[in-house]
Amino acid sequence: MLIVQLTILLLSAVALALSSTDYRDLQKRSVPHGFVTTRGTQFELDGKPFAFVGANSYWLPLLNSKADVEKTFKSMQQAGVKVLRTWGFNAINGSELAGALQSGLTYYQVWNSSEWILNDGPQGLQRLDHVIETAGKHDIKVILAFTNNWVGYGGAELYINWIAGAGKTHDIFFTDPRIIAPYQKYVRTIVNRYKNSPNIFAWELANEARCLGDILPAGPNCVAGTNVLPKWYRQQSDFVRSLDPHHLITTGGEGHFFWKKPVEFWFNGTLVSDYNFNGQAGEDFDRDLLLPNIDFGTYHMYPQTWYPQLDTPGSNFSVEEWGLGWINAHVRSANSANKPLLLEEFGLSGLDNKTDIYPSWVKRALDTRHAIMPWQFGTLGLTENGGNRLIKYADALINGASPNDGNTIYPNQTAAWDIFTYDHFNLAAQVLTSFLFVGTQRRSRLSGLGDQRRSLCQLYRD
Ligand SMILES: *[C@@H]1O[C@H](CO)[C@@H](O)[C@H](O)[C@H]1NC(C)=O
Ligand SMILES: *[C@@H]1O[C@H](CO)[C@@H](O)[C@H](O)[C@H]1NC(C)=O
Ligand SMILES: *[C@@H]1O[C@H](CO)[C@@H](O)[C@H](O)[C@H]1NC(C)=O
Ligand SMILES: *[C@@H]1O[C@H](CO)[C@@H](O)[C@H](O)[C@H]1NC(C)=O
Ligand SMILES: *[C@@H]1O[C@H](CO)[C@@H](O)[C@H](O)[C@H]1NC(C)=O
Ligand SMILES: *[C@@H]1O[C@H](CO)[C@@H](O)[C@H](O)[C@H]1NC(C)=O
Repeated sequence: MLIVQLTILLLSAVALALSSTDYRDLQKRSVPHGFVTTRGTQFELDGKPFAFVGANSYWLPLLNSKADVEKTFKSMQQAGVKVLRTWGFNAINGSELAGALQSGLTYYQVWNSSEWILNDGPQGLQRLDHVIETAGKHDIKVILAFTNNWVGYGGAELYINWIAGAGKTHDIFFTDPRIIAPYQKYVRTIVNRYKNSPNIFAWELANEARCLGDILPAGPNCVAGTNVLPKWYRQQSDFVRSLDPHHLITTGGEGHFFWKKPVEFWFNGTLVSDYNFNGQAGEDFDRDLLLPNIDFGTYHMYPQTWYPQLDTPGSNFSVEEWGLGWINAHVRSANSANKPLLLEEFGLSGLDNKTDIYPSWVKRALDTRHAIMPWQFGTLGLTENGGNRLIKYADALINGASPNDGNTIYPNQTAAWDIFTYDHFNLAAQVLTSFLFVGTQRRSRLSGLGDQRRSLCQLYRD
């Protein structure tokens, strides 16, 4: 009861604050029923706050068995997942086509000339159709990325190779009009296919856009402070908005900053400028988030692999601390832009590392009203081809387990799994968090946090 009254008080305080005219709230679009929108730093669904702990699974559209897709979504739904992020691209080189047809590899685009060819057949976009449809049946909404900065599953460098030819640099993907046009043609194909679907949560311009890539070198434009990525984000988000007035749009970026005074740290006696804050990769999170058709901010977090220095003597911070600081920096930026924030990928290898460090990251993210999505969701008991199949690269189904890049969290790893699910959870926390933090849209998924969960409840009670 006390809780309910408190909520009403809080809500009327919020309403008062809003009536003193927040410009961006007046700009809020009216969207069809079941579409997610934003109000200030919150997501909303049908007029109610929509907070979530989501899942990443790029491999779902690669499954050949509809039963396995169904099984995966069922497991996600049981874990409380409300939003799934997956790839809206799967492109192959013409030389790979014969092998793909033989192995059943999902592909949507084939490149064998300067114009890609669409595959909207049963081994193509119909697989994605089925994933998006099945998501909806399990009350899950999907974030789709249009391309990849990296070579995995056919990204920017296939466009560059086939259109601009050899000897080019990665950053021309973002500037060459001959490349932007076929990218937009693909974007139009995907957006038009699903633009009326409430099963889409948001569109993502690219996964982890950087002005440098996997294979091709960085060009002379790839220096801190160039306009290459911000301009591309502006151009592409406006383009997507022109196709689809209703769905949310975001960058899909890693969230690098371009700060005048980048963060520094000590490494082996030397003060090092932190790559993630000095604009070297091309993003400028603070500025990109202000773009009119970027509806919310995304960022990624892998300090364990980004900072091999962390373990060496003479480094002055830990994996856990670095992550907390990275979260805080994005919170400040999102608050100032008055837009919601999604920590849409984060990962650690090793079960002990996960159980040691995730609780404090998750607590900090939830305390600051983020949406979060660990990388990545794991499923056991997949049945296609007897549960064993090489997909592509090192991705494989092994004894029924979905692909594991070291960061996968499987349901049998309960100490890590429970951090993100509500299997063993306490009712008081559920009531508190569903009223005061989450709205009514999801049950608390804070089990496994122990004392931290209790202090989180305390925080919202105070
Ligand atoms: C790709 O183009 C080459 C050269 O034109 C041709 O020999 C080959 O058969 C094509 N491959 C596919 C899959 O269309
Ligand atoms: C695609 O295939 C062509 C030859 O068919 C090859 O030259 C090129 O390197 C391949 N590109 C990628 C990105 O795999
Ligand atoms: C590490 O040292 C640098 C330089 O003195 C300082 O700016 C930074 O805040 C320190 N980091 C931590 C986590 O203490
Ligand atoms: C740290 O610096 C010392 C002395 O310059 C050098 O010998 C050592 O290899 C460095 N260690 C690392 C991990 O770079
Ligand atoms: C746990 O994290 C530490 C620090 O980054 C790393 O050295 C270690 O290899 C990780 N453990 C596993 C099993 O990956
Ligand atoms: C959980 O399943 C994975 C994938 O099959 C396996 O590698 C791992 O050993 C299992 N872990 C436990 C704790 O059973």
